Amino acid sequence: MSLITDITRMWLTRTTKPFTFTNEYDSTLEYKYCDNLGLYVHIPFCKSICNFCPYCKEIYNKDKCDKYIDSLIKEIHLVGSGYTEKKKVTSLYFGGGTPALAADRIKEIIDALNEHFIIIEGIGVELHPDNVTIPTLEKLKEAGVTKLSIGIQSFQDKYQNILGRKTVDENKLYDVLSQVKFETISMDFIFALPQQTYDDLKKDIETAFSHGANHIAIYPFIDFTFTKSTVKSIDKREKRKLLDKITNYCLDQGYERSSIWTFASEKQAGYSSMTRDNFLGFGCSATTLLKDQFKINTFSTDEYCNRIDNHNLATSLTIRFTERQRMVYYLFWTAYSTQVDEKDFEKFFGKKLKKMYGLEILVAKLLGFVTEENGIYKMTLKGAFYYHYYENFYTLSYIDKMWGIMREHAFPEKIEL
Ligand SMILES: C[S@@+](CC[C@H](N)C(=O)[O-])C[C@H]1O[C@@H](n2cnc3c(N)ncnc32)[C@H](O)[C@@H]1O
Ligand code: SF4
Repeated sequence: MSLITDITRMWLTRTTKPFTFTNEYDSTLEYKYCDNLGLYVHIPFCKSICNFCPYCKEIYNKDKCDKYIDSLIKEIHLVGSGYTEKKKVTSLYFGGGTPALAADRIKEIIDALNEHFIIIEGIGVELHPDNVTIPTLEKLKEAGVTKLSIGIQSFQDKYQNILGRKTVDENKLYDVLSQVKFETISMDFIFALPQQTYDDLKKDIETAFSHGANHIAIYPFIDFTFTKSTVKSIDKREKRKLLDKITNYCLDQGYERSSIWTFASEKQAGYSSMTRDNFLGFGCSATTLLKDQFKINTFSTDEYCNRIDNHNLATSLTIRFTERQRMVYYLFWTAYSTQVDEKDFEKFFGKKLKKMYGLEILVAKLLGFVTEENGIYKMTLKGAFYYHYYENFYTLSYIDKMWGIMREHAFPEKIEL
């Protein structure tokens, strides 16, 4: 399986050099001149742990969560105080874990960020359905949150049972969401679960849009090797049929495809922490992407707090990109939005996309993966499926391996991918 990702990596980066992450790190992050910079904050606590979930998280404990947030605020000032001028950023996303469990302290975190950054495109927070209550939503709204993302997974008991999650009361959800309004209400679903049919998935999507959502994310189930999940994903052909049918259904309904997995029923609704050129990540396991480097914080909450309390960044691993590696990274994540604009590429790298990847673009066009219009490359249905298919390999070869190691070692010396 990793043979495909290895060959693709070598070809696209024009070198046999692997992606090398080491434990050396910068104490000041050079983000001042980064355009299209986003912010991400990780809160790694959940009331109960789902055995299919790969994210960095642990069982919620109020004291531990408070101590962690104290360190998080220190990390924000440690990173932000490198520059005197406030930096304009696109959006801020709180992910987890279940960040809504810390709803009481979200405002403090936002206030700390507002001392160093000017957030122009809104603030999003992830919630478990249990957090969708009027007091929690009011607290989030008062703190300045404009977007919610709720982890539904499925409205149907048979899939909640497979995933070991509880039934979601859709009417209660709707009632609360109608009382406290937000610009974006996104709901997460998992697809490609055993025996899942198009009708099941369509029903979930219809229920979401008729019960308060104006945006949905349908993630393909990924069976990470280090989780305790016994759920197996369906086979490739079934998955493709399901993905094509559900995409066509959403497009026929007039929903806008805002990224590979997301659809919006209203123009202003958007929720994506993935499609930014650069981002700063705060908290354990959070990643930071800058022009020349990508870094990832330690997965250990204790080690995270120790480092920060000693006035050091909690970086566990850093990769310093070659130009081609950065281009591949840029193209992979920009393609997630289903289109790549050659003008944006040239602005970012100072080089023409066609000059750097002309042959690959031609092959992608001939294979029917993309179409071109005025220098904008749009992914076709076929392209989206193969992107998804490749992303699955990438996730299992790179992310699975890296996270598997980082869950066991707070500060590994080196990882080569
Ligand atoms: C941090 S959780 C969302 C908020 C909250 N913790 C919850 O579970 O409701 C992020 C989302 O990742 C998705 N997810 C988790 N594990 C997954 C897996 N193995 N494959 C695909 N999607 C997954 C789920 O849809 C989940 O809602
Ligand atoms: S899916 Fe959500 S609630 Fe479940 S363990 Fe992952 S982050 Fe926590």
